[in-house]
Amino acid sequence: MLTQLLLLGLVLPVFCVPQVSGANYLVAAAWYAGWHAKDFPLSKVSWSKYTHMTYAFAETTANVKAFNISASDQEMLQQFSSMARKNGVKSLISIGGWTGSRFFSDNVATAQNRTVFVKSVVDLVAKYNLDGIDFDWEYPANQGIGWNTITANDTANFLAFLQELRKDIRGKTLILSAAVATTPFIDSNGKPSSDVSGFGKVLDFIAIMVYDIWGSWSPTVGPNSPLDDTCAIPARREGSAVSAVKQWNAAGIPLKQLVLGVASYGHSFRVRKADAFKSGSSTTLASYPPFNATNQPAGDSWDDSSGVDAHGTPLPAGGNIDFWGLIEQGYLNSDGTPKHGIAYTFDSCSKTPYVYNPKTEVMVSFDDTRSYSAKGAFIKSKGLRGFAMWEAGGDSNDILLDSVRRSGGF
Ligand SMILES: *[C@@H]1O[C@H](CO)[C@@H](O)[C@H](O)[C@H]1NC(C)=O
Ligand SMILES: *[C@@H]1O[C@H](CO)[C@@H](O)[C@H](O)[C@H]1NC(C)=O
Ligand SMILES: *[C@@H]1O[C@H](CO)[C@@H](O)[C@H](O)[C@H]1NC(C)=O
Ligand SMILES: *[C@@H]1O[C@H](CO)[C@@H](O)[C@H](O)[C@H]1NC(C)=O
Repeated sequence: MLTQLLLLGLVLPVFCVPQVSGANYLVAAAWYAGWHAKDFPLSKVSWSKYTHMTYAFAETTANVKAFNISASDQEMLQQFSSMARKNGVKSLISIGGWTGSRFFSDNVATAQNRTVFVKSVVDLVAKYNLDGIDFDWEYPANQGIGWNTITANDTANFLAFLQELRKDIRGKTLILSAAVATTPFIDSNGKPSSDVSGFGKVLDFIAIMVYDIWGSWSPTVGPNSPLDDTCAIPARREGSAVSAVKQWNAAGIPLKQLVLGVASYGHSFRVRKADAFKSGSSTTLASYPPFNATNQPAGDSWDDSSGVDAHGTPLPAGGNIDFWGLIEQGYLNSDGTPKHGIAYTFDSCSKTPYVYNPKTEVMVSFDDTRSYSAKGAFIKSKGLRGFAMWEAGGDSNDILLDSVRRSGGF
C-alpha cells in the first residue's frame, strides 16, 4: 500500500504535468523585419539559436478580408517559412505593429467581422505555410500611432475573436502569441484589466514589449528597456520587466506563458556636456539628464529618417541605433565593449547601460551583454517562457543573443 502510494505520488505527476520544462518548452524568439532584408537577409539569421521566428508585418486594412503585405514580403514569406522549417524553427507572422494596427478594432468589432477575420487569419497562415500568428495590436482600447480605430470594447472583442479562432479546425493547431504593452489590456472602463486570464487560455504565450519605455518623447533621458524600475523614484517608473511581469501575472497570465521582449537597439539623445556627467565627475554619467528635443541626433541607417507621416505631420529622426550601429558609429568596439573616449555607465536600477560621446554630445541608452545577461537571469529565476528580441537583425555577431541564451539557460 505504502509502496503503491509512493509510486502513485512519484509516477502520476510525471504523466499529469504538461511538458513545461526543458529546452523544447522555452521560447527563444525574435522578429524578422522584412524591410531590412537587403542588409539582413534570411541567410544571416542564426536559426540554430532560435525556437521561433516572427515575420513583421502583415498590416490590418479597412477590409477585414485582406492584409497589407508588401510585394517583397509576399515574395520572401515562402522562403522564410521553409527556411525556418528546415532549421526546426517555428515560423509566425506578426499582424499589426505600430503602423499596421489601424483596423484591428473594426475587424473584431462584431460577431460577423470576427468570423470573417478568423478565416482571413487561417488563410494567411496556410498561404505562406506558417506555424502561427503573433498579434501585435498596438493597442486594444488604447490609442497608439494616433489614427487607429478604437472602441472601449476592444479587449473583450479581441478575446471573443481569439476564442473563435481557437474553435476553428485550422486555428486550433496554430501557435498563437501576442505582443503587448507593459500594462495589461485596457478594459471598457479605460483602465488596465485586472483579469486577462481568458487570453492565457487561447494564446500560447504573450511577449511583453519592454522597450521604447523612454525615448525622444520623454521629459529626460531614460532607459529604453529597463529590467527594473521599482528601485526608481515614482516619477521614473514608466515600466520595466519586473513591474510588467508582475502586472500581467497578477491579472491572470501564468509566468510560464510570459515572454520577455528585449531590444537590440538603443535611443539617442542630445545632451550638453554640462548635463551629461554626474556633478564632480568627468567619467560617470548623470542619471536622467535633460536633453535637447529640438536637436534629435539621427540613429543608424535603419533609423526612421526625418520626413512626414501618412497624415503629412512632420516627423523628426527617430534616433534609434541598433547594436551593430553603436559599433559602426564608434561607441562600441566590435566585441560590444565601450570604445576609448566614450563614457560608459551602467545604471544599477534599470540594469541597462548608457554611452556618451562628449565630442558630438550624443548619449545613447541601450542594451549590452551585461544588461542582456541580467535579463536572461531574470527570465530563468522567474520561470518565464523565454525571450523575444526586436529585432533579429539589430545584433552584431550574436553578442546579445548569446548573452541572454547563456544566462537564461537556453
Ligand atoms: C499598404 O502599406 C503601404 C506601405 O505602408 C501603404 O503605402 C499603402 O497605402 C497600404 N495599403 C493599404 C490598402 O492599406
Ligand atoms: C466590419 O468590417 C467591415 C469590412 O472590413 C468594415 O467596413 C466595418 O466597419 C466593420 N464593422 C465595424 C463595426 O467596425
Ligand atoms: C460593448 O459591450 C457591451 C457588452 O457586450 C455592449 O452592451 C455594448 O453595446 C458594447 N459597446 C460597443 C460600443 O460596442
Ligand atoms: C537645441 O538645439 C537647437 C537646434 O540645434 C538649438 O538652436 C538650441 O539652442 C538648443 N537648445 C539648447 C538649450 O541648447
